[in-house]
Amino acid sequence: MTDRLAAVVLAAGKGTRMKSDLPKVLHRIAGKPMIEWVLDTVGTLGAEPVVVVTAPDQDAVRAAISGRATTAIQEQALGTADAVKPAREALASIAADGGTVLVLYGDTPMMTPATLARMVEARNGKENPAVVVLGFEPDDPALYGRLVLGADHSLERIVEARDAGPVEREIGLCNGGVMAIDASVLFEMLDAIGNANAKSEFYLTDIVGIARAAGRRCAVVICDTVETMGVDSRVGLAAAEAAMQARLRVAAMDNGTTLTAPETVFLCHDTSLGRDVTVHPHVVFGAGVSVEDGAEIRSFSHLEGARVASGAIVGPYARLRPGADIGAGAHIGNFVEIKNAVIEPGAKANHLTYVGDARVGAKANLGAGTITCNYDGFAKHHTDIGAGAFIGSNTALVAPVTVGEGAIVGAGSVVTRDVPVDALAVVRGAEKIVPGGAARFRASRAKSGKG
Ligand code: UD1
Repeated sequence: MTDRLAAVVLAAGKGTRMKSDLPKVLHRIAGKPMIEWVLDTVGTLGAEPVVVVTAPDQDAVRAAISGRATTAIQEQALGTADAVKPAREALASIAADGGTVLVLYGDTPMMTPATLARMVEARNGKENPAVVVLGFEPDDPALYGRLVLGADHSLERIVEARDAGPVEREIGLCNGGVMAIDASVLFEMLDAIGNANAKSEFYLTDIVGIARAAGRRCAVVICDTVETMGVDSRVGLAAAEAAMQARLRVAAMDNGTTLTAPETVFLCHDTSLGRDVTVHPHVVFGAGVSVEDGAEIRSFSHLEGARVASGAIVGPYARLRPGADIGAGAHIGNFVEIKNAVIEPGAKANHLTYVGDARVGAKANLGAGTITCNYDGFAKHHTDIGAGAFIGSNTALVAPVTVGEGAIVGAGSVVTRDVPVDALAVVRGAEKIVPGGAARFRASRAKSGKG
């Protein structure tokens, strides 16, 4: 016996109930395809190889995981035991050496490395069980396979719900869908499985009875119900999303972030929130966001592909798009959109502003309604605003353009030429004042009966 570990991830089911053109395991949970959650989990345990079993028409799945796992094809979905067989070639070496093969499903994103590690540990235990099955106790056992235990509490067999008699159906301990199997006997046991059952399928669950008949022991490791959550419909997808969000929020809070209304904050699998960050209600994080220590994200903000440095304040109602890099202590206020732009420390864009393809120097101040006109219909252009510059409200900066350090741009300007360091630029029509003009206008309207 060795402690080598490999994994087979079953993903060849039809997923018909998703009613989707996208294979089920590519649907995302917290921004990451389900199959990648599973691959990351087995990767944490160092399983090698990891074989993902796909259906012939699932090119998209094979492309999505290429380089991350070996793939094998199950020609027809004839059942979970049949689904493991295409992995035979990839597992030849571990089957010869001995070790453990984890079999799990590609549509159970909530499974944790800790639970799988407990299963592997049980497999490597002194009783050397041939099969360790993940058990759980759902509120409603419904269609799950029932785990039948012997007098010594070891596992005797698994009975699928459709094949169970009334007494077996009363069993509350169910099959969570993960097994850790002795690699040296896996394929021999699989070959012994038939399909004389209610669904005429080759059930992987029959492997337990076969191992017992060969005089081997089988064991159960029990986990929390949430880990076994499988997705087979859009409703299931939403339920798994909610469970994953709950898990991510707890992890963020455990890490020292305050979420004042956690249930309203939506995180991505890779959201990084530092110590003493505060996230106010109703904030959505897309992929690739990191918020550093002490920053504050105010309500109704949407962030993706952005970095917020320590002490910065973002929102309420801010949108940070990919490439937004908000420096320490900077303020990004309401109805401000930042894309592919560096906002240096202490700079402020507090209201109604668009900054795209730009650098805003340290402590520069952008007045309400500042717009970087970065796109001319053909290409994107850069705007560079120097440190300490002041841009008056309702200014259009037509890129490519530079506003030098310490320069001031008067409100309402349309800036098309570079503004030198410390210069004042005002680009607007001359203001005309006509004394008494308003009164005369009103009088003339009244006289003509239109006032
Ligand atoms: C299976 C178990 C059941 C357990 C439940 C937990 C069997 C016979 N039953 O039932 O004891 O309680 O999981 O969720 O194993 N798949 C293939 N090829 C196939 C068939 C299935 O790749 O030919 C994959 C599916 O994509 C899916 C997984 O295996 O990811 C489970 O298949 P499914 O048919 O949903 O099994 P259940 O009926 O839920």
